[in-house]
Amino acid sequence: MKKIRLGVNIDHVATVRNARGEIYPSPLRAALLARKHGADSVTIHLREDRRHINETDLKQIKSKLKIPLNLEIAATEEMIKIALKSKPPFICIVPEKRQEITTEGGLNLKFKYAYLKKIISKLKKNNSRVSLFVEPTLKDIKIAKKLNADCVELHTGKFCRLINENKNYKKELSKIKKATMMGNSFGLEIHAGHGLTFKSAKILSKISGIKEFNIGHFLIGESIFVGLGETIKIFRKILKK
Ligand code: PXP
Repeated sequence: MKKIRLGVNIDHVATVRNARGEIYPSPLRAALLARKHGADSVTIHLREDRRHINETDLKQIKSKLKIPLNLEIAATEEMIKIALKSKPPFICIVPEKRQEITTEGGLNLKFKYAYLKKIISKLKKNNSRVSLFVEPTLKDIKIAKKLNADCVELHTGKFCRLINENKNYKKELSKIKKATMMGNSFGLEIHAGHGLTFKSAKILSKISGIKEFNIGHFLIGESIFVGLGETIKIFRKILKK
């Protein structure tokens, strides 16, 4: 069985730093430590309002990190320009609303279809692997294939919330399974992300066909108590099963 990759999202190290306008804690230090403890990639989301990661973080992490950097961006002209210049190995295009607390849903792939197709092609030609953050629906998997994306990241937020609230998650799990199967049959690499905890990651790790998990908020929160290395170690163990 092929190993499931773990992408560690370190945005919230920058959130803590920015809360006091200080230079610590350092997202670069977190990125390097994540690699040391077994992360396969590091994810950062450069948001329009720069509420966590900024361009200096991007430059520093990109130049020092020895595992792939996964840059999450909205499909805006500004972000595409930055991505083309920075050439991160992985890019994940996400929707972004200025007032949201976090990425609240998957991309609307039908809206600006032609524009998305053009930028995906540009980013791929620039040697970045391009992923689209989508809801786990068959409709979006089909469009992602037509858009010629390399991968899709399935938004697991709803699934994770149901688990956290002890509600029935079977229907959502089934949607994720079906989307994974269809994506795999199209040759799309399937990733999962948003809201993942030890418990939700463990359930989803049983779906064969999900190749990468991107985990941030819970992982950074847990690190406060047991350390970044130990938290990554636990996720690594979960993803091996
Ligand atoms: N994947 C994508 C595309 C995201 O936008 C986010 C949140 O930035 C994550 C994964 C990580 O989600 P969380 O921080 O809830 O683990």
